[in-house]
Amino acid sequence: MEYFTSRPAAEVGGSVCVPGDKSISHRALMLGAIAQGDTEVTGFLAGEDCLATLAALRAMGVQIEQDDPGSLVIRGVGLHGLSAAGFPLDMGNSGTAMRLFAGLLAAQRFDSVLVGDASLSRRPMERVAAPLRLMGADISTREGLPPLDIRGGMTLSGIDYTLPVASAQVKSAILLAALYAQGPTTVSEPGVTRDHTERMLRQFGVSLQVTPGQVRLKPGQRLAGTRVAVPGDLSSAAFPILAACLAPRGRLELVNVGLNPTRTGIIEILRRMGARIEVRQDGSTGVEPVGTIVVEAGRLHGIEVPAELVPLAIDEFPVLFVAAALAEGDTVVRGAAELRHKESDRIARMAAGLAALGGEVTEFPDGALIRGGRLQGGKVDSAGDHRIAMAFAVAAVAAEGPVRIRDTANVATSFPGFADLAGRIGMDLSVSRDGD
Ligand code: S3P
Repeated sequence: MEYFTSRPAAEVGGSVCVPGDKSISHRALMLGAIAQGDTEVTGFLAGEDCLATLAALRAMGVQIEQDDPGSLVIRGVGLHGLSAAGFPLDMGNSGTAMRLFAGLLAAQRFDSVLVGDASLSRRPMERVAAPLRLMGADISTREGLPPLDIRGGMTLSGIDYTLPVASAQVKSAILLAALYAQGPTTVSEPGVTRDHTERMLRQFGVSLQVTPGQVRLKPGQRLAGTRVAVPGDLSSAAFPILAACLAPRGRLELVNVGLNPTRTGIIEILRRMGARIEVRQDGSTGVEPVGTIVVEAGRLHGIEVPAELVPLAIDEFPVLFVAAALAEGDTVVRGAAELRHKESDRIARMAAGLAALGGEVTEFPDGALIRGGRLQGGKVDSAGDHRIAMAFAVAAVAAEGPVRIRDTANVATSFPGFADLAGRIGMDLSVSRDGD
C-alpha cells in the first residue's frame, strides 16, 4: 500500500507543465487505430488509464510505436481492420476506456469482453449498453456492472437518442458505434459535456453537424490519419492551481494547458470564490485551445456552485470540496449526483476525509453543504481514487498539520509524476509504502 504525507507549505510558485490530457489521449489512440494511415501523437499521457487503452488496441492487432512516453505513432488499420484479442481486454481503472470501447467494439465482427479493476467493476455500464442495444448491439452487463460481454457481427442502425444524464463518455460511445451504423445518428445532451470526440473526429476528416446540445453523424465516412498534439490536462492542473490559491505566498504559472470551454468550469468556480487566476489563451493545437494559467495566493469565500457549471467541472469536485472547506463561509453543491459514480463515491469520500481533518460537510444525494473554515492535520483514505488522493495532498498546503493519505498508487492513472511536480512548486509531499 502506498501513502502520501503532505505538510503545510509556506510558498507555492514557479512555472510548470502538467501531463497530457487524459480524455484527448484516449481518443487519439482509438481514432488513430481505426484511421487509414499513420497518426502521430505528441504530448500523450503515459498514465495507466491511457496505457490500458494502448495495450487493448495492440491486443487487437494495431501497431503502436512509443519512442518516448509522450510520443506515439499509431499505424491505423482502418474502420474494419481490428481483430479479436482472444482474451478479455483489461481496462484497469478507466471508465473512459471501458465506455468508449463498448461503442467501438459493439460494431466489430468479433466478440469482446471488457473487464476492469475493483473500482471500475462497481461503476454503472447500462448507461452505455442501453443506447448501444437500441442501435442493434448485443451487449450484456452483470446486473448493470462490468464485465461487458459484446457479441460481434451485429448490424447496427442509427438512432436518435437523448442522454438521460450528461455524459461525454456515453455520447462518445454512441458516436463511435455510429461510424459503423446503417443510417445517421443524433445524440442530444441535457447539459454541455466535453466535446473532444466531436473535435477530434473532424480532425480525422469526419464531418459532423453540431448544434447547441446536439450532434449528428452520418455513417460511411473514413478516418484519415493525422497529427494530434495533446495539451496539458486542465483536470490535472486543477491540483497545483488550488495549491497556489491556498499557499500563504507565491505565484504559479502553468503553461500549455488545454482550455477547451467544456472543461474550464473549475476556473470559473474558483474565481467566483475569490481566487486570483489569470488565463491567457496563447495557442491552439489546431482543434483545441491552449494557454497559460497564472495563479496567485488569495483568500477564498464560499459560494453556491451554479448548476450549469457542474458538468464543466465534473472531475474537479474533490478540488472544490477542499477549496470550500478552507474558504470563508459555506459552499453549496447541488445537481452533482454523478459524483457518486466516479472512481469512488466522491461526495461520501470527500465528506469522510474532510471530517477526519476537522471539517464539516452535510451530504445531499446530489451534492453537499461544505462549511468553510480551517482544517487540521490527520489521516484520510483515498479509497484508491486518484483525484481524492491529490485533493487531500493539496489540502495539507493550508492545513494546521501534516495530512497522511492512504492508498495513493492510482495517482499514476492520470498524473504520473505528481509527487515530483508537487515538490517542484514548493509543496512538502513524501511518498512511502507499508514497511517504509
Ligand atoms: C470523460 C468524461 C467524464 C469524466 C471522465 C472523462 C471523457 O465522464 O468524468 O473523467 O473522457 O469522456 P462522464 O462521461 O461519466 O461524465
